[in-house]
Amino acid sequence: MTRCFSVLLFTVLAVSAVRGQQQVPAYLDDRISEEQRIDDALKRMTLDEKIAVIHAQSKFSSPGVKRLGFPDLWTDDGPHGVRPDVLWDEWEQAGQTNDSCVAFPALTCLAATWNTDMARLYGESLGEEALYRGKNVILGPGVNINRTPLGGRNFEYMGEDPYLASRMVVPYVKGLQSKGVAACVKHYALNNDEEYRHQVNVIVSDRALHEIYLPAFRAAVQEGKAWAIMGAYNLYQNQHNCHNAVLLNNILKRDWGFDGVVISDWGGCHSTEEAIVNGLDLEFGTWTDGLTMGKTNAYDSYYLAEAYKRLIREGRYTTKELDEKVRRVLRLFYRTTMNRQKPVGFLCSDSHYEAALKIAQEGIVLLKNSPVPASNRKGGEPLLPIDLTKTKRILVVGENAIKMMTVGGGSSSLKVQKEILPLDGLQRIVNSKSSDCEIEYARGYVGDTVQSYNGVTVGRSLYETRSAEELRAEAVEKARQADVVIMFGGLNKSDYQDCEGHDRKQFELPYGQDELIEALVAANPRLVYVNISGNAVAMPWLGKVPAVVQGWFIGSEAGEALASVLVGDVNPSGKLPFTWYASLDQCGAHATGSYPGVWREQESGRGIIDEDYKEDIYVGYRWIDKMESQMPKAKGQKPLFPFGYGLSYTTFELKNLRADKQEMTADGQLTFTVDVTNTGNYAGSEVVQLYISDMQASVPRPVKELKGFSKVFLQPRETRAVSITIDSTALSFYDDKLGQWTTEPGEFEATVAQDGGGLKAKSQKLKAKFVLR
Ligand code: BGC
Repeated sequence: MTRCFSVLLFTVLAVSAVRGQQQVPAYLDDRISEEQRIDDALKRMTLDEKIAVIHAQSKFSSPGVKRLGFPDLWTDDGPHGVRPDVLWDEWEQAGQTNDSCVAFPALTCLAATWNTDMARLYGESLGEEALYRGKNVILGPGVNINRTPLGGRNFEYMGEDPYLASRMVVPYVKGLQSKGVAACVKHYALNNDEEYRHQVNVIVSDRALHEIYLPAFRAAVQEGKAWAIMGAYNLYQNQHNCHNAVLLNNILKRDWGFDGVVISDWGGCHSTEEAIVNGLDLEFGTWTDGLTMGKTNAYDSYYLAEAYKRLIREGRYTTKELDEKVRRVLRLFYRTTMNRQKPVGFLCSDSHYEAALKIAQEGIVLLKNSPVPASNRKGGEPLLPIDLTKTKRILVVGENAIKMMTVGGGSSSLKVQKEILPLDGLQRIVNSKSSDCEIEYARGYVGDTVQSYNGVTVGRSLYETRSAEELRAEAVEKARQADVVIMFGGLNKSDYQDCEGHDRKQFELPYGQDELIEALVAANPRLVYVNISGNAVAMPWLGKVPAVVQGWFIGSEAGEALASVLVGDVNPSGKLPFTWYASLDQCGAHATGSYPGVWREQESGRGIIDEDYKEDIYVGYRWIDKMESQMPKAKGQKPLFPFGYGLSYTTFELKNLRADKQEMTADGQLTFTVDVTNTGNYAGSEVVQLYISDMQASVPRPVKELKGFSKVFLQPRETRAVSITIDSTALSFYDDKLGQWTTEPGEFEATVAQDGGGLKAKSQKLKAKFVLR
């Protein structure tokens, strides 16, 4: 009896175990590897289901597989905050009340922090906001290189230097993805200007491609392990980059081992056959009549939808390519929508505002702070930080003091829960510190008075009836009465003023701001100019204006961050992530006449612009250095501010550069150490920058290249030893004959400096020679 019962019990248990196993199919079984689960899911999916998951079903989502329990995939811009929801198939706002976000500083500001911890914090905070909003993929970060200061989207990117952008993008991606939200690094590749971006065909040497334009993407993929990448609109080798054989199949997937999903930029896909064979995995945003107008809910007409299915049914393709695409999409599902370990998201938390503030404060760059004589006296003190014990009247001038900058600029435009405007931030901080300092405001100029952008209403009305002369006269008159004048000017993310879709038309400030600045400084020499932009601008008046601050587009806490720097609660420590040219002819893309390229007619009748990057690897400071070394006596080569430049309210001294050895081997490392002392009266941070020069090479090389940096915080009179370690990748170049990176033995020189200024820069530079065996 007992035996019979045991046998029965065993049988029941065994059957239910089998049933239990059957209830958890392999693709849902967390205990087996992801690839095995993908294999199982792939086997179960029908052709229709496979085709469905490789293209969009709405403006920002693509379907999962309902029958198997895979949820839909939701993407969203990116990269500075989570974009508000739009209607299913329209660009119009969905009118949600739960999609107001925290705007983090634009990525140029993040790069200007030169602090990788800030990039990690950025990614994590954004990831939490995305999670709350149910977004699985953030369309960012952007790492296209700043090749010309006219580039309309430079504000969304991380500057001109491949090493700096690489170091900053990796922690952003890791931070974001640690929350179970995919980064979609964009725009791969060579999308360095915006004008006619769908028609630009970039011609670039392999060396420049690999040394300048690809490293940040490669770092995001190989070190950051990015789960998605977005193809760019433009062409390379006459093929659109969303289905470009060389960029996607050869470099990204074969050479770099990218295992994630290639997503087309919205409307960047142009051909079913190229999309099938050239590495595109997920199609979004296609305008289905192929021109400028889209049809409603035309997702079945996408290049990777019915048209693809037809080709498979006709036997023109097997499901080989399709299965590979679906495998990648499923991998993305397991990493995001199917990730059961995801943390909980939250929106507009105190911690997110703190992160936004901190990053903004660290990225603001003090460009100039010369002593200003008090009336009728010589010598004098710098204007900044503003001493509120001696200041009774502050005049704030400029539209950018009262204009929201989180709206505008294209797809990165946001709907914020709060944005502190510069005037309000200053008012708050001044009131909290002084009972008898008044702030007055004068508009000074009119720039962009648009009241709403993408359906998001701009808080304060910027409507103005007075003429430019009246506005200027009012500002100048008030300036005469003020102890200090602070002008917030610059660009504003409206069309042609740092905005997607177009480049800037001019390097000069728009809206008559140069004339206004000249008039203000003539009326009152105690003028602080705060430039709001993501790009350098011409500053013909720089010699006359004693204090200049680069304020970027810095998000929700903009006013608070700017004010804290202006009154000295925060000591600025940002450094420029690009060269601030005096004029466009100092920039390689312009000096060689290769921007914006040459129109060519195509047989189809659609024009193509060939843009030949003739400056080659000499982008940014590399061009300045080259010109200075080739023509040391020539005039007009010095930029207004070099790459890596930024002042502080204190001063720093670098001393005693030493290397742990004089020789290194190809598989070895070398550590440089320098003593950094805060020689002034404020606590503050300095960025120690390490540049490497190849003293004997078989190919032309840049005079120097950034290969390391470290930000250090020091109390007054404190000294710290700062070490930076390199390996031979810091010495290598891309050999276009061999098609690979290579290092040549020989002599190198390390320069440790506070900025990337060239021969003519006055800043301190310590040098050490070493040899690669
Ligand atoms: C932009 C992308 C953006 C996408 C979706 C495109 O126009 O180039 O950066 O992610 O739109 O909004």
